Amino acid sequence: MNKKFNRTLVTCALPYANGPVHIGHLAGVYVPADIYVRYLRMRGEDVLYVCGSDEHGVPITIKAQKEGCTPQDIVDRYHRIIKDSFTGLGINFDIYSRTSSKTHHKNAADYFRKLYDEGKFIEKVSEQYYDEETKTFLADRYITGTCPKCGAEGAYGDQCEKCGATLSPDELINPKSALSGGELVKKETKHWYLPLDQYEKWLSEWILDGHKEWRSNVYGQCKSWIDGGLQPRAVSRDLNWGVPVPVEGSDGKVLYVWFDAPIGYISNTQELLPVSWEKWWKSEDTKLVHFIGKDNIVFHCIVFPSMLKADGSYILPDNVPANEFLNLEGDKISTSRGWAVWLHEYLEQFPGQEDVLRYVLTANAPETKDNDFSWKDFQARNNSELVAILGNFVNRAVVLTHKYFEGKVPADLKPEAIDAETMAQIQPLREAMEKYLEGYKFREALKEAMNIARLGNKYLTDTEPWKVAKTDMDRTASILNVSLQICASLAIAFEPFLPFSSEKLRGILNVGIAAGNDHRAGEEGATSENIYTAGEGAALHTGVSYDGITLSWEDLGKAVLLPAGHQLNQATLLFGKIEDEVVDAQIARLEAIRAEREAAAKAAEAAVVTPQKEECTFDDFGKMDIRTATVLEAERVPKTDKLLKLTIDTGIDKRVIVSGIAEQYSPEEMVGKQICILANLAPRKIRGIESKGMILMARQNDGKMRFITPQETLCNGAEIG
Ligand code: 2FM
Ligand code: ZN
Repeated sequence: MNKKFNRTLVTCALPYANGPVHIGHLAGVYVPADIYVRYLRMRGEDVLYVCGSDEHGVPITIKAQKEGCTPQDIVDRYHRIIKDSFTGLGINFDIYSRTSSKTHHKNAADYFRKLYDEGKFIEKVSEQYYDEETKTFLADRYITGTCPKCGAEGAYGDQCEKCGATLSPDELINPKSALSGGELVKKETKHWYLPLDQYEKWLSEWILDGHKEWRSNVYGQCKSWIDGGLQPRAVSRDLNWGVPVPVEGSDGKVLYVWFDAPIGYISNTQELLPVSWEKWWKSEDTKLVHFIGKDNIVFHCIVFPSMLKADGSYILPDNVPANEFLNLEGDKISTSRGWAVWLHEYLEQFPGQEDVLRYVLTANAPETKDNDFSWKDFQARNNSELVAILGNFVNRAVVLTHKYFEGKVPADLKPEAIDAETMAQIQPLREAMEKYLEGYKFREALKEAMNIARLGNKYLTDTEPWKVAKTDMDRTASILNVSLQICASLAIAFEPFLPFSSEKLRGILNVGIAAGNDHRAGEEGATSENIYTAGEGAALHTGVSYDGITLSWEDLGKAVLLPAGHQLNQATLLFGKIEDEVVDAQIARLEAIRAEREAAAKAAEAAVVTPQKEECTFDDFGKMDIRTATVLEAERVPKTDKLLKLTIDTGIDKRVIVSGIAEQYSPEEMVGKQICILANLAPRKIRGIESKGMILMARQNDGKMRFITPQETLCNGAEIG
């Protein structure tokens, strides 16, 4: 770690409390942050790890309205689910608070007020759409109408989902409120804006010149925002859910959710550490790192830093390692469509397999580009990597030790060159891991950790202790000694990635680990509601020592971590095989959603009607002789797919009509049907058969055709018009 820092403050994007956390969130933000924090703590760094629920914003109010409850009900429900599910995956923040907390409301209001008093905002009156019925100003997303580009109904004020056009509410034809369905009016309203244009030069120097080491996706987005020219951004909204704007005469206005949420990081720190919080936010020797997804880059690299700069007393992020997106089975994750794997459900359905998810999400982390999660890959990575490589090596080493040496670490009685050569390969792997972990390349770091297990497997395959044991117990002792030392290194190397399995492995090896200290207990005066209480969450960050042995990161790769004679516990499997039925059930659930969506899309497509034809006169229409008729006989026209030859009773006569309906109706279905025909259409020959008239059909855009049949059976020849 860079010398100029004495502590690290890690923040994770505050998840919106209007839905549970899914694998996209985990892969993008929370799993990488957790790996980073665990690693730094193992190295003895002082780390504060902060997160909480983002409980404001329009979507929460909409959800409440739809469900007929209050926004507070919604956020209470999801805050609990999210908090518990993080704990279940071993993600133990020092504090997981919420932006509806008293501390935060006061803190966010004070933050605004200070900038307001110092004249850091501009005030502007503008016209915005207002829903008379619900008495609310509407965000663009909550205005719907007809798309001016493709004519689709239900386009949003910011985008048409049918043709993808970017829109503004003013462009919509016949805009309506998505809340009430009612008419909209334009009304003047006053808001406060942070003049980002005034921070442009400073941002350019700070990021574009000063942080060229940031990930290219992050740097690139910042560059394009800055080069494109920054505009003042409104920091307030007309809404009754959020932190009220702390200025006289601003009733019905709250701070914009993206203004108050990042202040939540500061509020949560204050809640936990009311005495020493400033050390974490205002000391130049604190390294601040924001873990976020790519949709949050502008807020964490441009907007929030400008807010911090406007205040002037805060440090700025040293890095913002934003990830790209994770897709699910080739499709974008979508909460509303149910196209997601929810963490709380995973924890219920895969008890004891928390680390499998952590492993797969890290191995597929969308660090440089969007990536995909598939259940088959999940199964393959578990079965052929966790089980076959890591679990298998540990199990073989421990089982053989129990078999030949009563579970005691055997002495290194007969070393050979391959032993030292193997052990010497761990050190460079550890160094590579350190380089990757400190450079936020968690996927690569995990590969190196796995390479240590591969090394162990190769060593066992090369040395074959089960064969050697038949003739040479001294050499067997050495081989198993080396193997167990590698197991101890694995317990260290995997602690940041697979904390549950590392703990299990330590249990088998009967050793403790120095996993660093956390701040979960808080400080005197800490707001009790959001502080972790004893027993809540797995207490993984503690330096537990077993049998006098405590491993630390610095031990990784050392030749002797377990002394000869040290007693091991019984081997238990670190990972279990995942069977086809398990993943097939998950895939079937998703396939059902996909099928439903495709059917809905088809129906929507079919519902699009062709434009009206040119006007015709009453006389034009009067010329057409349309009547009821009944099909008497039907047969396919030979050598055609589409044509049926129908003999029909028109009431006037019996005649033949050839009709192109064979793909949708069989001859048997047709006989006896009453239909409508255009009787006076000039006869024409079709495939050598004279056809006199036309059967009337309704034709959908997707090609589906149906007869026009009278509501009740009529006499044949009844005139229609
Ligand atoms: O995108 C989101 O889920 C936001 N709730 C993240 C907020 S991060 C921070 F600024 F609080
Ligand atoms: Zn459109």
